Amino acid sequence: MTSEEAKKHIDFLCDEINRHNYNYYVLDRPEISDYQFDILLQELIDLEKQFPEFLDVNSPSQRVGGAVTKSFENVDHKFPMLSLSNSYNEVEILEFDERVRKLVGDDVEYICELKFDGVAISLSYEYGQLKRAVTRGDGNKGDDVTSNVRTIKSIPLTLQGDFPDFFEIRGEIYYPHASFNKLNEDRLEEGLQLFANPRNAASGTLKMQDSAEVAKRKLDCYLYYLSYDNDVADNHYDSLLKAKKWGFRISSYMAKCHHIQEIFEFINDWNMGRRSLPFDIDGIVIKVNNFKQQRELGFTAKSPRWAIAYKFKAEEARTKLLSIDFQVGRTGVVTPVANLEPVLLAGTVVKRATLHNADVIQQLGLHEHDTVVVEKGGEIIPKITSVVEELRLGGSKQVQFCENCPECATLLVRNEGEAAWVCPNTASCPPQIKGKIEHFIGRKAMNIESLGEGKVEILFDNKLVSNVADLYDLNYNDLFGLEKVFAIEDPENPTITKERKISFQKKTAENILQSLENSKNVPFSRVLFALGIRFVGETVAKKLVEAFPSLEKLKAADKDSLLEVSEIGERIADSVIDFFSNNDNLSIIQRLKDFGIQFEQETNKNRISNKLEGKSMVISGVFTNYSRDQIKVIIEQHGGKNVSSISAKTDFVVAGENMGPAKLEKAIKLNIKILSEEEFIQLVQSDQNQMGKEIDFSPN
Ligand code: IVH
Repeated sequence: MTSEEAKKHIDFLCDEINRHNYNYYVLDRPEISDYQFDILLQELIDLEKQFPEFLDVNSPSQRVGGAVTKSFENVDHKFPMLSLSNSYNEVEILEFDERVRKLVGDDVEYICELKFDGVAISLSYEYGQLKRAVTRGDGNKGDDVTSNVRTIKSIPLTLQGDFPDFFEIRGEIYYPHASFNKLNEDRLEEGLQLFANPRNAASGTLKMQDSAEVAKRKLDCYLYYLSYDNDVADNHYDSLLKAKKWGFRISSYMAKCHHIQEIFEFINDWNMGRRSLPFDIDGIVIKVNNFKQQRELGFTAKSPRWAIAYKFKAEEARTKLLSIDFQVGRTGVVTPVANLEPVLLAGTVVKRATLHNADVIQQLGLHEHDTVVVEKGGEIIPKITSVVEELRLGGSKQVQFCENCPECATLLVRNEGEAAWVCPNTASCPPQIKGKIEHFIGRKAMNIESLGEGKVEILFDNKLVSNVADLYDLNYNDLFGLEKVFAIEDPENPTITKERKISFQKKTAENILQSLENSKNVPFSRVLFALGIRFVGETVAKKLVEAFPSLEKLKAADKDSLLEVSEIGERIADSVIDFFSNNDNLSIIQRLKDFGIQFEQETNKNRISNKLEGKSMVISGVFTNYSRDQIKVIIEQHGGKNVSSISAKTDFVVAGENMGPAKLEKAIKLNIKILSEEEFIQLVQSDQNQMGKEIDFSPN
């Protein structure tokens, strides 16, 4: 294929893929199957690899992310991102309507919209291309999160139709319930802290440094406001219809209202109906439709006078605190959970609420047998928001956080700067041992099928396992015939318990032993995750193994070299060092190693040469012939290691255009060799096949 033909075909594929994306994400009317879509996308990816000169940042292939941002640039908004004034009752809406009519007369039309509960975003487009995506920040300046936003499939990277050359459009990025629940399920399995609600998850995800990770999380976006200093329409509603034609996802739940009564109906309908939506809304937004009238009404310093938000009341109920359980997790963190008198709230019976930590109990001023208010917002687990002090029984005592572990009686400790009380008895506290083993056998860890929570408990009760290495000592005779009867609470009626018997039959015992044998092929990154080091989830484990491909290298890593790895901060680095300085952990690892578990990453099959073997490379600036991701791949193909910030350990910096002055100064100060894009390519391409050729790393 000639270069010209390739360009033509790449353009054709981009248009096709964009069109199918639009059909799927905006119109909800796909024309082709997911499989056919994947074939088109793969064809594009292959062609762009062959002809990297035609790879565009807004190509649909770039939705998978890859760009890493260490810190998000704080940029000015072209137009300040104002918020809306809030109202909480019908009287305030009536007053708003009166104010509007007084200024623009009685001929007024309102648009009622859903108030999406996510993260506000401003998108700038130039000549139909997404240029920038900025969070609200303080309204005047926000964070540039473009590389992450590019991965959200319902946000068009290239527009279609008769769009203006320059414009900004605002909307809300949110986490749909289904993806949010899946995210938290995965985090639970990985032992990571759960996101309290979809809004927090959306905001946390947008600030992730690795856009490839953002791409895996299924964020979504609705757009709701096109700046009106262009002439696309004379009213808000029509401007959104136009925006939909250009490729934006616009909510169809909008209503044109002329009378206040219609507004109230819309509010009431959605107050009832919001539970059936697949995402969270926290109210209704009412906007004057006509742009001319909007201009007449103008803005206050903080918000437009032509719009108001009606906030729903969070659903809450009163109930009684019965008792508090202190639960010990696999990392030893003790979480207080309130047992409540069952109460109906937002369609479900609530009988437990998390209290998170000791600070929360303290702030609530919780006393035994208190009447409490429970609230269910977007959260999965309801929370106690306040205590009804008037109903407190005389003489009731303030709730005290336990001082000793409720399971093993060890004195709890609290690390500086952390809210959690932790049981330090990692080696013999039963729930910690069982929790660690349950984590170790998990699907994303060592994947020991046929062993689950109940069976681990049986093995533990029978003193067959007291750490993860003991699993590999098990034999058929140990397993066969074990059994236990568990009491299970009926979810419909907490007063009824049912019995469930778990027993190890012949097949189960054989399957467990086979899975244990198979787990000896599980790659090092999953083994590292399986070890259950605090704060080391699946992704962090992968990052660590990329940087330190063997146990020996990881064990030897000091804090500075851990901090050089992208996504690794102080908390994780300290936890890793702590884990490897514990002799119990080291002896378990030694036993696992002796059993044949993988503690070394397989060598990179894509290796082209060893020219950059063991060299730490930092890339900076914008490149002409290759994208930043491509440069990173080339570095890895030649054995180099990509690190995100310059330190004394950096071997060299590959500098494109506009390298940050601070980075440049640091590189010069530390005497680090700086290479231009051309010099770098020449370096890796020279004598391509001479493995291990020495490179001159002396400074320029
Ligand atoms: S209009 C100039 N419409 O609610 C007015 N905002 O304080 C632009 N929000 O920060 C905002 N859904 O993040 C508008 N349909 C909707 C909305 C909406 C959610 C958010 C937005 C804003 C906050 C109001």
